[in-house]
Amino acid sequence: MLSSAPILELQGVTIRFGGLTAVAQVDLTLYEGEILGLIGPNGAGKTTLFNIIAGFHKPSKGRILFKGRDITGMKPHKICKLGVVRTFQIMKPLKKLTTLENVMVGALAREKTIPRVREKAQEILKLTGLDHKASLPAGNLTPGEKKRLEVARALATDPSLILLDEVMGGLTPSETQKMLKLLRSLQSQGISMVVVEHNVKAVVQLAHRITVLNYGKKIAEGLPHEVLNHPEVIEAYMGEEHLCFR
Ligand SMILES: Nc1ncnc2c1ncn2[C@@H]1O[C@H](COP(=O)(O)OP(=O)(O)OP(=O)(O)O)[C@@H](O)[C@H]1O
Ligand SMILES: [Mg+2]
Repeated sequence: MLSSAPILELQGVTIRFGGLTAVAQVDLTLYEGEILGLIGPNGAGKTTLFNIIAGFHKPSKGRILFKGRDITGMKPHKICKLGVVRTFQIMKPLKKLTTLENVMVGALAREKTIPRVREKAQEILKLTGLDHKASLPAGNLTPGEKKRLEVARALATDPSLILLDEVMGGLTPSETQKMLKLLRSLQSQGISMVVVEHNVKAVVQLAHRITVLNYGKKIAEGLPHEVLNHPEVIEAYMGEEHLCFR
């Protein structure tokens, strides 16, 4: 059973870049322990919405509440301290540092001593199936492992909400299954997630509900199969054959 307490609420969130409204009047509620899929064609505003929630962009209008507290316009490090973390669509591992050190960077946000930071990073590498790669430079990891490293670095900050930006993009089917298993195990530990993903088949397997953005606007929301049969969603995805979600 999911909790009925909202962990994240967006109210009328809007952002304009010059003449372009990249996110328009988006309302959204995520409940504690929920996995919400956030999908939409290229340029729909998904990454921008994550940037707004995590404090990288200030919205032109609207409010963001995390656990009932207004976090609109707060700096990213403050939002991270409160328990919200995002991963990056373009992976940014520190290539020359080892896999372990990359995760230690995340853990520095919480832990005070280096031995504790190291211990925590080691625990997270185990959880994400990267412990055997701990001492390799992160630049040497496979694409699937780099995606798991993104999740590991986020986890090291002790989040209660993770915003995942295409962590399954470009993965092989077996890597995708590994990632799905990892994300489900995080959910069972009580972590809430918003999952932005072009691999719609994977989102359908994972998410409790799906929200669809198109040109910055929310065009549908609901149970995964209902949403995918929504006429506006089908139309939005026309011409994006690579998404082939049905
Ligand atoms: N900093 C910025 N300045 C100006 N325009 C921006 C900026 N960031 C994003 N945009 C524009 O906002 C729109 C939404 O972009 P965004 O990256 O959020 O889309 P997306 O849904 O994540 O797409 P994709 O699936 O391709 O990752 C696009 O038209 C993009 O060009
Ligand atoms: Mg994006």
